[in-house]
Amino acid sequence: MQDKEKQWAEEVYNKFETKMQRVSEKSRDKIPALAVNGVHDDRSDKTRQWRPDDGLNWWTNGFWGGMLWMLYAVSGKEQYKNTARISEEKLDSCFESYLGLHHDVGFMWMPAAVADYRLTGDRDARKRGLHAACLLAGRFNPAGGFIRAWNDIPGSEEDTRGWAIIDCMFNITLLYWASEETKDPRFRQIAVIHADTVRQNFIRPDGSVKHIVEFDPETGRRVRDYGGQGYAEGSSWTRGQGWGLYGFVLSYLHTGKKEFLETAERIGDYFAANIPEDGLIPVDFCQPADPLWYDDTAAAVAACGFIELSRTDAVPEKKRAYYKAAAWKLLKALDEVHCDWTAKSDCFLTHCSGAYHSEQHNHTLVYADSFFLEAVLKLKGSDFLLW
Ligand code: GLY
Repeated sequence: MQDKEKQWAEEVYNKFETKMQRVSEKSRDKIPALAVNGVHDDRSDKTRQWRPDDGLNWWTNGFWGGMLWMLYAVSGKEQYKNTARISEEKLDSCFESYLGLHHDVGFMWMPAAVADYRLTGDRDARKRGLHAACLLAGRFNPAGGFIRAWNDIPGSEEDTRGWAIIDCMFNITLLYWASEETKDPRFRQIAVIHADTVRQNFIRPDGSVKHIVEFDPETGRRVRDYGGQGYAEGSSWTRGQGWGLYGFVLSYLHTGKKEFLETAERIGDYFAANIPEDGLIPVDFCQPADPLWYDDTAAAVAACGFIELSRTDAVPEKKRAYYKAAAWKLLKALDEVHCDWTAKSDCFLTHCSGAYHSEQHNHTLVYADSFFLEAVLKLKGSDFLLW
């Protein structure tokens, strides 16, 4: 007999696929980041004036392809593969311009090109993945043992050369893949050093994680922390907790290093203990009660991490059940309260926020949809590891 979570996941997947059959045709030539008045925007729109990292270089541009590759992997429908390839090829011009590219090349090329290569063996896709991995490795600072986040901010006095961020736990999966692919250990060595630096400097005693830590870029000495996209310094930006939780699980899956699994469990225990009664996740666990801004992305990313923990043999059985229950609570709330299954919107999840101090809140984001789909496929038991 199927367990209730699996049966639920089958039903949600069917709703997802029904809507995506239409949307993937409608948005065939776009690289969407979110929906405006229900319609996908397009980061590849050349008629618009973008800042260097906002247009084709926008960090979420791999997720549209990632969603399509996940659907292709399960359904085998060529329509998803063909649409995914359009966005993957468009991103090639980012390599040509180089300027504006950043630490998020993992987010951009893992779900798109590397997923393509893993599923189809396409040689151009492999080349794109390796090219991006070399760019990411080039951002490594040996003095501090971290990958530099972001670039210099034009017109700003802020010196970001020593900034490292929790989000990068996802980008380093590109380095693990590059070493697995080339048998050259250098990429993996950089990833492990970075993950160890994060483990030692970002995790607080209660299991919560910081967003940004600054190191002296010459000596590697730790300088200070920043609240980043969360409410304030010392608070708990929920998407950052998700990046940490799922990110350390991924580092464990790629290396087998038990410290990474222990770190994922610590962050997971903190996250699970803070899930509100209704299962809906705020932008920051420390934000004021009013206004009530959510981040469905944080819920979806954390759900992926919890499901992976729940199927990891090295985690005690009782805790595995606890993590599965946490994932189930998050995903049920997203499906029942924060998901638009209708044709009125090209997106799915409705209550996301880029950052606590952004001007806009409770809106759509394509990467929230992507992590939601990823979590549903994990529960359904028909996922392939995107990271
Ligand atoms: N990686 C940037 C973010 O989570 O917004």
